[in-house]
Amino acid sequence: MFSESFLMELADRNDIVDVVSEYVRLGKRSGANLFGLCPFHNEKTPSFSVSPDKQIYHCFGCGKGGGVINFIMEIESFSFPEAVEFLARRAGMTVPQQENDRESRHRARLYDANREAARFYYQLLQSPAGERGREYVSQRRLTAKTVKTFGLGYAPQEWDALAKELRGKGFSEQELLDADLVRRGRNGGVYDTFRNRLVFPVVDVRGNVAGFSGRIIGEGEPKYLNTRETAVYNKGRLLFGLNLARKSRKDYLILVEGNVDVVSLHQAGFDSAVAALGTALTNEQARLISRYKNEVILAYDSDGAGLKAAQRSIDILEKLDVKVRVLRWQDAKDPDEYIQKFGPGGFLALVEKSESQIDYRLQNIRRKYDFSVPEQKVDYLREATQLVATFPGSVERQVYAMRVAELAEVQADAVIKEVERQRRRQVSGAKKNLERENRAVNTVQPPERSLRYENPVSAAAEEGIVRLLFLEPSLAGTAEGLIREEEFTSKALGHMYALILARIREHRAVNTTVLSEELTAEEMNLLIRLLNKPEVLPHASEILQDYVRVIKKQQEAAEPSPDLRQLADRLKNDGKGYRS
Ligand code: CTP
Ligand code: MN
Repeated sequence: MFSESFLMELADRNDIVDVVSEYVRLGKRSGANLFGLCPFHNEKTPSFSVSPDKQIYHCFGCGKGGGVINFIMEIESFSFPEAVEFLARRAGMTVPQQENDRESRHRARLYDANREAARFYYQLLQSPAGERGREYVSQRRLTAKTVKTFGLGYAPQEWDALAKELRGKGFSEQELLDADLVRRGRNGGVYDTFRNRLVFPVVDVRGNVAGFSGRIIGEGEPKYLNTRETAVYNKGRLLFGLNLARKSRKDYLILVEGNVDVVSLHQAGFDSAVAALGTALTNEQARLISRYKNEVILAYDSDGAGLKAAQRSIDILEKLDVKVRVLRWQDAKDPDEYIQKFGPGGFLALVEKSESQIDYRLQNIRRKYDFSVPEQKVDYLREATQLVATFPGSVERQVYAMRVAELAEVQADAVIKEVERQRRRQVSGAKKNLERENRAVNTVQPPERSLRYENPVSAAAEEGIVRLLFLEPSLAGTAEGLIREEEFTSKALGHMYALILARIREHRAVNTTVLSEELTAEEMNLLIRLLNKPEVLPHASEILQDYVRVIKKQQEAAEPSPDLRQLADRLKNDGKGYRS
């Protein structure tokens, strides 16, 4: 828990317009708000708004919203404390928790030692002493830019080059052992863990150097040496390259086996490649992946071990609703070699080929029919056009309509027309359904499934109560006397109601910054949305009573009448008697 004054200062020092501007180009003002393209969903016209006055953001398209801390949580996929730490660092503040916790102080030392080590290896690679490393780098055709992006380094052949360097910087032998930067030898002394290796710093998603992978220069065993488990390095929870890949604009992650493959793919423009660190994909790694992307392309080596690893990874990922595609290739042992041989274009072709499961589905439909029978050809066209009509993009529909026509050897025009006809039917059917639903429900349902309103009429009034209290805390006493948390039909709204009441009772602040610690991300979205709806403040107290009246009326309607309840009880008892 962070103190309230700390959180308020944090919010003060991180103006939401500045912070958001680092991720979104905020265009012109409309009223008091600034608008830009929403970073949380795809859109062409800006519906993402930021209010400098209220220090909140809100997207009218996808419904996301919150204060500056929520924004960082959402866009960086951080937990609350992670986002606080991030913003504190941004504003040059110290995070209070870190100051007095011995364990986290120790971890911070290990991170520091790792950072210094990375710097040492990196500088060595550039220096005359790094000749062998540089040769290897150029032999692997890695550019200077790639070396810099990944902070690649060279660990020399010597026994204690790093140990000397870091002791000179004030790190104790114990700290270096704890970070696994040095290991204890049989003679009781310590020696550098990484020697004669190309070193890859493993950077976690917060930007800390957690450990290293070292690939031997030339031949030798083991090919890869990794940091052992330490207080800051847990290989099951880290993915090499994820610190960069998570920021990629690609919708998918590419999962490969070797560190060299990751680096080489990034260099070729596939900036969403990552590798597990010498393990089969773990559940934690998969969960980490699912925080950032919902699609993974597996590009494991095509040997037996690679296939087995792929199968395991597919199972783990699919359990987390991550879509998986498997890349297959020939004439190269791994992605790096494939790119060396066939260039980035060649690899892109592989990725795109793996993508077209649509083709695969069309082929399956094709196979069901015998075209020598005219009726079957018609049936094929009907089924195939129905499928193509479901594609949302019109270009996509046209392309596949042409493919369908080709397979049946009929004119493309006719098929395209048929697809569009089907499309119109499907759309108008969907629209009618929607209208029917909307008529029954005169409130907008939250887009978050977990927040769905069971009783939208009551929920609309509940929203109103939360909004009124937020804007007019003096109503707390009246509200408390009229309605209890349990009477809210929406759990989330009831939760907000109780939190706000408690805060007002204790004379604590009520604002989005302090509430963002206590509400879930989804609840926060809901809160911001409901705060953005208009409210009539001059008659706040009467309106509050109106809201309460609506809720109570809904309660009565939901309660069965006494007669009905008696009947129901009787039936229940009868049922029991019958069964026994
Ligand atoms: N591996 C490992 N530690 C890492 C990365 C990979 O132990 N940090 C293991 C993988 O589990 C796999 C093998 O090393 O078994 C990967 O080897 P390979 O695919 O040959 O790696 P590349 O980087 O492609 O090696 P090369 O330099 O030969 O291309
Ligand atoms: Mn390789």
